[in-house]
Parts: sequence; C-alpha cells; structure tokens
Amino acid sequence: MLRVAQKLIESAYTSQSKLLARHGRSTRYHSFLSTHMPECSSFPNVKSHKELYDYSVQHPDNFWGTLASSRLEWIKPFSKVSNCNMNEGSIKWFEDGELNVSYNCVDRHANVTPSKVALIWEKDEPNQVEKITYKELLAKVCQIANVLKSQGVAKGDCVTIYMPVSPTAVAAMLACARIGAVHNVVFAGFSAEALAQRIQSASSETIITTDQAVRGGKIIPLKNVVDDAVKMCPTVKRVLVGTRTGNSVPWNDKDINLEEAMKHENDWCEPEAMNSEDWLFTLYTSGSTGKPKGIVHTQAGYLLYATVTSKFVFDIQEGDIFGCVADIGWITGHSYVVYGPLSNGTTSVLFESTPTYPDQGRYWDMVERIKLTQFYGAPTAIRLLLKYGDSWVKKYDRSSLRVLGSVGEPINHEAWEWYHNVVGNGKCPVVDTWWQTETGGIMITPRPSGPSDKIEPAMPMRPFFGVSPAILDDKHNELSGNDVSGACCIKSPWPGMARTIVGDHKRFFETYYKPFPGHYFSGDGCHRTASGYYQITGRMDDVINVSGHRLGTAEVEDVIDEHDAVAESAVIGCAHDIKGETPYAFVILKEGHTVDEKEFGEQVRRMIKEKISSFAVPEGILLTDGLPKTRSGKIMRRILRKIAVNDIDNLGDVSTLADPSVVDKLISLKRGAS
Ligand code: PRX
Repeated sequence: MLRVAQKLIESAYTSQSKLLARHGRSTRYHSFLSTHMPECSSFPNVKSHKELYDYSVQHPDNFWGTLASSRLEWIKPFSKVSNCNMNEGSIKWFEDGELNVSYNCVDRHANVTPSKVALIWEKDEPNQVEKITYKELLAKVCQIANVLKSQGVAKGDCVTIYMPVSPTAVAAMLACARIGAVHNVVFAGFSAEALAQRIQSASSETIITTDQAVRGGKIIPLKNVVDDAVKMCPTVKRVLVGTRTGNSVPWNDKDINLEEAMKHENDWCEPEAMNSEDWLFTLYTSGSTGKPKGIVHTQAGYLLYATVTSKFVFDIQEGDIFGCVADIGWITGHSYVVYGPLSNGTTSVLFESTPTYPDQGRYWDMVERIKLTQFYGAPTAIRLLLKYGDSWVKKYDRSSLRVLGSVGEPINHEAWEWYHNVVGNGKCPVVDTWWQTETGGIMITPRPSGPSDKIEPAMPMRPFFGVSPAILDDKHNELSGNDVSGACCIKSPWPGMARTIVGDHKRFFETYYKPFPGHYFSGDGCHRTASGYYQITGRMDDVINVSGHRLGTAEVEDVIDEHDAVAESAVIGCAHDIKGETPYAFVILKEGHTVDEKEFGEQVRRMIKEKISSFAVPEGILLTDGLPKTRSGKIMRRILRKIAVNDIDNLGDVSTLADPSVVDKLISLKRGAS
C-alpha cells in the first residue's frame, strides 16, 4: 500500500523536478518566481515578489496548503491546513495529514537519483572527505532504525543523540524520524551534568553517541562524558556507541556497539505513518530561568518550513553543494544541515572541524575543494577570521559560491562588508537571517526578494513568506509606520513554529504568548528602519548570546550559587569583539567568608565548565559586597552591564536604587580589578 503511494509520489516529484530543471540554472540570484515557484500559477494575480508576499500573509492557508501538497509527499493527504489560536498558544498545521519525514528527506531522492551525493563529510583533518549517496544514506537510516526497533525503541519514545556531526549522526536523527521516535540532540560540547539534565527532562531511555570526537586536532572523550551522565540517569536503558576514532573506551553493561548491531539488521525499514502533529524532535535551549527549555517541533509543519526556507533563502538549484557549518546540536544544524537541504534533495556538507584548523584558511580551502555553492556560518567566526587578514581567503578559489549566509547573532557592519567584499568578492548576496530555535526556520531575511531589491548591509531586512512581524511597545500597542523600535513579535502563525516545551506547556504559553496577547513574542528587540526594514537590536530578557550560543544568565548564576562561599551572584553579558557577548559575574560572598580571589575564580570557572560548558565560563568575576537593586529587590542589570565594560559615564538614572552608593563601590572595585 505504502509502495503504491510511493510510486505516485515519485512521479509527482519527478515532474516537479523536471519543471524546475527546465528553467535552467543561473549563476546569479534572480527572481524565484520563474525558476523556483511553479505553484505561483495557482495564486490569483501574483506576478511579483511583493504580490506573492502579500498573498502569503493574506491567504496563509492557500499559500501553505499549496506548498505542502507540492513540496512534501504525503501518506495521507491533509484536509485542513491550519488550526491555530495565538491567544492560547495552541498551534496545529495539517492536523489530519500523515507523512514520514525520513521518507521525504531520503527515500524520494534515493528512488529517483540513488547515486546523487546526499552528504559530504568534511572531517576534522583537511583532505579527509567522505561522500554518501542518497541510496547509501537510506540503507544507513534503515539499519539504525531497525537497531532501535530491535532494542525496543517505539513510536513516541525519546532518543538522545550526543554526537559530533557525521553521516551516522544525521542517519540517527532520520532513523528516529523513520520509526516515529522523538530525537533529542544535545550539543556534544555540553558537560555530563548538562547532558544528564536534558536526558532526564526528556525522559529518554536511549542514548546514541560515539567513542570519541575529534575537533581542531584534539580528541574529546565523548563516551566518558556519556558514562558520567548515565550514572546520574538511572532510567537510561541503553547506550548505542558508534565508532569515530576506534580507540578503546570504557565499556558498560548498557553499551551496545552501533556498527556491530547495524551489521545484523536489514537495510530496509518501512517508514512509519506519522500524524503531522506528532512530535519530531525536542531541542533544549536556554531561557531566562536556570532551567533550559525543551522546545518541541512536530512533523509536517516543521519539515515544510525548513524545506521552503532553505530553497528560497539560499536559492538552492539542482547540482548545488550546500555548506552550513553549524553543528547538529543547534537548531541551525537541524534545519539547514539536515532537514531543509535533504528534503530538497540537495547535497549537504557536514563540517566537523573548526574555522582555524589547521589554519585560518580552513573554510575557504573547503569551499575550493568541495565547490560549495552556499556558505552559511556565524558572525563570530567571520569576526575572528577577518582579524587574520584577506590573504587566507584570497589564497583559495571561491568562484563556486553564490550565496553567503549569516545566523545566530547580529552581524556588525565591518564583518558584513568583509564577508561580502572579500569572501564573496562582492558578487554573492549576503543573507543575514534572523530566527530562533522556537521558529524552526528563517523568519526575517534579505532574500528572497524581487530581482531588483537591494540588500542593506548588516540587517535581516524582510520577512519571509507568510511571516507578519509586529513591533509592540510596553503597553502592548503595535507600532505602525517606520523608524520605530520595540518588542519583536509575530502576529500570525507559520508552519515551523514550536508547539510546546517538554513537560511545561504553561511555561511555553507564559514565555511566548502571554507577554503580548495574540502574538508570538520572540524575546528580541527590533527596529523598523526609515526604509521599512527590520533590524534586530538584541535580547530583551536575561539571555545572552556567546559566539552564537544562547545562554541564560540564570543558568550560570545557579552554578556560581552552588559554591559554598557564595551568597548571591549576578551574571550579565558584556560586549566582546569576537564572541559578540561574554558572561561577566558579580559575586557576593556569605557573611564571614573570605576566599583567595584567584583560587575562587578558578573553582567557579571549573564548576561552570563541568556543569554547563566551556562557552559559559565568565570572562571576569568580581567579588563585591553589594549589588545595585531596586527597592523591590530586583537587580538592575543595566547598571552592571555598564560597569563591566567601564562605561561609567552612561549609567543612566540610579536614583531608584535602594542604595545608590553601591554603584560607586562597584566602579572602584572594577577599576582595581581591571
Ligand atoms: O537573539 C536572537 C539571536 O539568536 C537568538 C536565537 O538563538 P537560537 O535559538 O540559539 O537560534 C540561533 C540560530 C537561529 C535570537 O533570539 N539571533 C539569531 N539570528 C540573528 C540573531 N540576532 C540578530 N541577527 C540575527 N540574524
């Protein structure tokens, strides 16, 4: 039955591919209307980019329903497109449809173009590349899916994946999707405690990891970290261990050699029919409390949004080699390394290394060797590389590149110009893409746009199709007109939006829907320029962004407060010219406690590394006996932010503080410490 459906789907897919291919390939960015969007013919009176955008927001069900039918393959077609209530935080898309995400990402391409390369694994050592075709990927996905089934993993179970980027890691994600298990990828740089917290919160009984990881020439003992985490999680039943280095690692009762187990399994596994609103994955991200949030994405809406945004933002064409250098442990890796590119049948690059290993030319060496057509990276890496000068870039041929992307944090003008002029030789559009773990895919982005629409440097500019941004003031009024700033909200639903937080729908509602009723609140601030373009001004909550990694200051405070000598701490983010932001901690000791400052600093730094990750370690720790608090006891972080960067001429109003003299004391302490 499913096979018959697959045949029908294949022929529909082939005709769509032919239709798209007939329009040919261009080396320049051009109007997607003629090349990429055959669906346009069914939208009345849509002949320009603006008309298509307007149509998408005015008729979202027609727009998304049409794309869902043409871009995805369904096992059971949907009859209803959206059923969302933003006042209640209740979101459903295509709710009576059924499909399988791994089928959409792998089988439909393996059936038509089996020998097309699906993944190019750029390993840590340069010149060590492994290619895997769609047919090979399908076999690998099926074998891992069968291992999971043999081990008793069933539809709806949560599988935690703690692996560096590799074809096996991607296949593990897709294997979960194939059998309807919910994956919970944890960035392989998180500590054992952070991993354990995420395993427990997601009630995960199964872990997939590798013996070791290799990054920047260094070996990371991944399995040891998992062993430590498993000791804290008695409910874990099994640990599947893949091979990366083959070095010997400790072995426990619950461990299973993944490759050995795969050898005993068939390379075909029937894809499970999944309801559109079944959970596809959960991904933990930081919020403004000490407890990370398990953001939940579901099947069809997420996949459609990742598929369509990849295609249009990056102008994906037949034969492209798509290079998103994010790790699969973050949402960018989920949407633009795995689901988006593969659903489009593209070749996706898996980058295992670092921007500076073995030298500062690593990215561009890879671009030349692999002939990347798109490069999607983080501003922090661009800022780092520009400091080493242009020669590392110019040494390599980058003429294959057509689109450059930026994600994760604001990109400053200097970095944007360097990316555009030096890396892209002034020829590639730079897309500064704004979005979040919660949005599932890109929301504000300079492309797609009309063929003559210019890109302004260093801002995401334009909402994607179907996205209606709104800027609200603190009285919940939407600000109309241009040159206005306020809270960055979205006023109508889109398919990629998160559905809930694992085990805490109340927190989901209170975080995203309660602050501005009827709107999704992103937590970011935003400015609409005089020309009507969107510019992100940074977080409005106690979340900071360190090298593109989201970090709740409360998470760091919770760890510092665990130190025996600490009474209270306040962590803020301060500007850093490479990392964007970096944590800085103000600490009050308990009455009667004295410490050796250097030793104390080392202990605190070690604790944070062990309990969270090295990126969360504060740049500075200042011992103080008071913090600037309002009369109601709220810490005025605005003042701490200024003091941390010695910007004491712009402290603003301090008269509302319970004890304004604290400020002078802190300033002189900071001077002494700098
Ligand atoms: O503050 C925004 C910032 O990163 C946050 C989302 O982080 P995360 O969920 O980890 O996802 C990162 C990858 C999508 C946002 O709330 N951010 C992301 N992209 C940009 C950005 N800030 C400014 N400009 C961007 N392009």
